[in-house]
Amino acid sequence: MFKTRITEMLGIEYPIIQGGMARVSCPELAAAVSNAGGLGILISAGLTPEGLREEIKKTKSLTDKPFGVNISLFPSIEPLPNDKFVDVIIDEGVAMVESSGFKGPDEFVEPLRKGNVKLIHKCAGVRYAQTAERMGVDAVAVVGVENGGAVGTLDVGTFVLIPAAVSAVSLPVIAGGGIGDARGFVAAMALGAEGVVIGTRFMATTESPIHPKAKERMLQAREMDTMVIMRAIRNNHRVLKNQAAEEELKLEERGAPLEEILEVISGKEAGRVFSDGELDAGIFGCGQVVGLINEVVSVKEVIDGIVNGAITIRKKLDGVLQPA
Ligand SMILES: Cc1cc2nc3c(=O)[nH]c(=O)nc-3n(C[C@H](O)[C@H](O)[C@H](O)COP(=O)(O)O)c2cc1C
Repeated sequence: MFKTRITEMLGIEYPIIQGGMARVSCPELAAAVSNAGGLGILISAGLTPEGLREEIKKTKSLTDKPFGVNISLFPSIEPLPNDKFVDVIIDEGVAMVESSGFKGPDEFVEPLRKGNVKLIHKCAGVRYAQTAERMGVDAVAVVGVENGGAVGTLDVGTFVLIPAAVSAVSLPVIAGGGIGDARGFVAAMALGAEGVVIGTRFMATTESPIHPKAKERMLQAREMDTMVIMRAIRNNHRVLKNQAAEEELKLEERGAPLEEILEVISGKEAGRVFSDGELDAGIFGCGQVVGLINEVVSVKEVIDGIVNGAITIRKKLDGVLQPA
């Protein structure tokens, strides 16, 4: 019923992927998404290779379904041991890698192909999707400017980005940025996507590890309560408006050094937003779709809601889109 090149490629029931999320992706969340018929993703950045192996093993103990690992190609203060992460991923037989970042994933194409791991590169523009296709990835994911977390610098909305990408590449396209329910899912598929990547909606679920106060804050937020920061250093990120985000904007305005900006973004206090519910301690990655989230439910309820809602919408559309 929901068969696309993505469900076939990844061996999953529904073309619904949980995007890797720093400080949010964890074995419990990833396994819940995979158990519900989608595909959950762990984050590697911030872990050691052995730490990643532990997370993979824990996820395997919670699900026998396929799941993936995110590899960050964004610039970082300390270089990431990505080649070692790839070795662990192949060794543990992980189903797929979601790569993301300015740099393309070319160096990982061959090892992952030989290791029988699918590689999906996530980016925020058609030209990057074309580059990834030329590099030999298995699929591309494109995310519009509504996206929670990194939004790229091109500021193209999901509604235009999906058909533009679908026309520009022949690989299957996964779409993200602003998708959180059946309406967004059906719209993305109507625009030519063969799967969706969802982040923000999965943060406000029972399996998400973020503090209950952070989930509660998400329920109160409206669609205009996010903002884009770090434009000055071309590392545009969409976050929930809070004191840390406003402070970061002021630092950008006065041309503060990178270290000062990074202290607000990734300093030791920043993690307390999600771990302790200190909602202004650091930035709070979040997409515009937060304005459509009204309750904290289980991952399975989110996915079942999308799947069942899609069937209802299809029937409604059948009635509306009648030939004259
Ligand atoms: C809190 C948060 C952290 C994120 N961290 C990452 C990350 O480390 N790497 C990455 O590729 N994407 C990251 N993302 C983006 C998601 O994987 C996904 O592409 C995005 O959330 C989809 O858009 P949506 O939030 O509108 O659903 C993050 C998103 C959020 C909300």
